[in-house]
Amino acid sequence: MKKAKITFDRDFQVSRIDRRIYGSFIEHLGRAVYGGIYEPDSPFADEQGFRRDTLELVRELRVPVVRYPGGNFVSGYKWEDGVGPREDRPRRIDLAWTVVETNEVGLNEFCDWAKKAGTEVMMAVNLGTRGPAEAMELLEYCNLDQGTALSELRKKHGYPAPHGIKLWCLGNEMDGPWQIGHKTAQEYGRVANETAKVMRDIDPDIELVACGSSGSDMPTFGEWEATVLDNCYDNVDYISMHRYYGDSERDPKSFLANSVDMDRFITDVANVCDYVKAKKHSDKTINISFDEWNVWYHSSEQDKKLKPWTRAPHQLEDVYDFQDALLVGSMLITLLRHADRVKIACLAQLVNVIAPIMTSDTGCWRQTIYYPYWLTGKYGRGIALRTLIEAPTVETKKYGQVSALDAVAVYNDEAEELVIFAVNKDLEEDLALSADLRQFAGFHVLEHVTIQDEDLYAVNTEKNPDRIVPESSGASAVENGTLKTVLKHKSWNMIRLAAK
Ligand code: AHR
Repeated sequence: MKKAKITFDRDFQVSRIDRRIYGSFIEHLGRAVYGGIYEPDSPFADEQGFRRDTLELVRELRVPVVRYPGGNFVSGYKWEDGVGPREDRPRRIDLAWTVVETNEVGLNEFCDWAKKAGTEVMMAVNLGTRGPAEAMELLEYCNLDQGTALSELRKKHGYPAPHGIKLWCLGNEMDGPWQIGHKTAQEYGRVANETAKVMRDIDPDIELVACGSSGSDMPTFGEWEATVLDNCYDNVDYISMHRYYGDSERDPKSFLANSVDMDRFITDVANVCDYVKAKKHSDKTINISFDEWNVWYHSSEQDKKLKPWTRAPHQLEDVYDFQDALLVGSMLITLLRHADRVKIACLAQLVNVIAPIMTSDTGCWRQTIYYPYWLTGKYGRGIALRTLIEAPTVETKKYGQVSALDAVAVYNDEAEELVIFAVNKDLEEDLALSADLRQFAGFHVLEHVTIQDEDLYAVNTEKNPDRIVPESSGASAVENGTLKTVLKHKSWNMIRLAAK
């Protein structure tokens, strides 16, 4: 059997993990809001029309933060359309997704939903068709206590207490030519800076995310970040990153190797941030909000056939397979390996639209990608440790030779647990993995959970929701201070060890 080794040390820490890296995203798009979280006519609806079954799964995922309301949608959105009496709310065209937006759900309802789901709201402002004035007004409406026109309007709408939203995105994907109100880096950098300044004047406690590139493959990537940050460095806290991967070529080796691109992308963005920091002789570090990441390609052809101007169509409804779960697992490992710079990340999205949770009239179910997201979010808490990997390689068309193993060790100092997340990307061969436990002497294996299947393309469906599920069947043991385990070919693994 091929051999691999990982080395880590309690004292060699990447960083304490910000729990917000397990965030997600709900956009007014397809059936994410209407039919996903809100469906007043459903037997699952609660007194406010929110689907109880979806809420239960979101709570199970313990999602710390949910980005809202877009996405491309936000760049044409008037937040005022979604507040006040429902019967007065306009039906609007949504140019981003060529659909009709009914505004039955707006920011107040979303904040209610977030409370029920036990999550925080990460709100995006429209810097496509709008600017600083409307962003100021939205913030006043959301966060000011009382005594001003818009805080009083919120109260009149039935929300006496401010929403206290702390995390704000300054627009969405403004580098993308598809974006409503698309801008050059210079144009966007100026608007982002002016918007950030006035928003901070209203509420000095907020954190602000400037738009970075929509992907590592954008022609403006690099220069975009440098120019944007040149304009707004002092007034923002994070730069965003977005990245989706697909496998229309049916080349699983290259597909599973996409974490290599994600890893480089993060390193490059951090380097550009630090270049601007050096240029400005600044003491401040800009960190990363990786606020859209996932696999996205299964629904692309289907979506081209959609009739325009309908309400909440089945849009971007990717049905995820087993290999998608492996890549999502690897992407989570990559985020953890960069926990020193990535402080926020959002799996895009949460319900129905490129999502871990799917709903129908008769209930909801967990897609394959649900499981690595759930388990990494649940157990990947504490401190990410520098994890050195020695492993055989896999030959790929897209990236050449890449490591067959993605792995990271996390030390949960509160629970006194050591957790290893690992993906064996080799499609045929198992890996015998060893790790010298050093200062983790006395730790023993609590469980070794795996997600493994012979069929890369197996999916969970409404009729067969448990085709791909995690199993506590991995073989791991500690022998003379060394963890010894076998990582099955094409498998996701979580090995938990504890002192007691
Ligand atoms: O998540 C789907 C879309 O992907 C978002 O609206 C946009 O920001 C990105 O291009």
